[in-house]
Amino acid sequence: MPKSINDPNMGHMKTSDFKLVYEFNDDTYLLVDALEKDYIVNHLLNSKCGLKCCLEIGSGSGYVTTFLYKLLNNNHQLMNASYSFLLLCSDINPNAALMTRKTLENNKITPQQVPICCDVVLTDFHSAFKQRMKNKIDLLIFNPPYVPSEQYEMGHNDVRAAYAGGIDGREVIDKFIPMIKDILSRDGVFYFVLIEDNRPQEVMKLLSLEENGGFASKIVLKKWVQGEYLFIVKFFKSC
Ligand SMILES: C[S@@+](CC[C@H](N)C(=O)[O-])C[C@H]1O[C@@H](n2cnc3c(N)ncnc32)[C@H](O)[C@@H]1O
Repeated sequence: MPKSINDPNMGHMKTSDFKLVYEFNDDTYLLVDALEKDYIVNHLLNSKCGLKCCLEIGSGSGYVTTFLYKLLNNNHQLMNASYSFLLLCSDINPNAALMTRKTLENNKITPQQVPICCDVVLTDFHSAFKQRMKNKIDLLIFNPPYVPSEQYEMGHNDVRAAYAGGIDGREVIDKFIPMIKDILSRDGVFYFVLIEDNRPQEVMKLLSLEENGGFASKIVLKKWVQGEYLFIVKFFKSC
């Protein structure tokens, strides 16, 4: 994996932690690569697209949220942003929410820091702040449980929630699809991690339907890893 100045320090995580929390991996690295290469250039530095609130669903170890914090912090001057903004993340697994907090702390990021206020919430998707944050998220990220799996692996809030995606790895993905239009702001952008088994083209078609928000989409990165293609797909409206 290429080195970036935004890479979080993950030295506090031990091998035994990965029995409880998703081990950051190639999909994690591809996602942060997309944020660094695509989001910054095509959205953040484009003055039409504001950024006040970001949300990562399923933060796991906290790698992506911490990377994003550093990325935004390092680009704050360039963004023409004189304001503070909010970086929220959620996870359904209590151990993941705790680990995300530890990762932020280990990288010297505290909740009330300026200019980026960062918080971790233990909740299913965004349920805990669904009404308050309706159509307020400018940057949404989700590396979902996408692995095709048996039904007995579904419906847990432990490490199984990190990978178990049910039939075609699509069960959590399909549950999330109708929620996106009520989360994203008018110019909001969403980065989704998918694999070939999930049929990314079909997911793109579903999100293009008016009832799901009528989003345009683009595959921003694609990589062959351990016998399968990983995709980072971006969904957006106007910018
Ligand atoms: C593939 S892991 C990704 C972790 C991390 N974002 C990364 O990229 O390394 C998926 C994460 O989503 C969480 N998750 C699964 N279903 C969720 C749900 N309904 N709401 C919130 N988090 C969920 C899992 O607990 C897990 O931490």
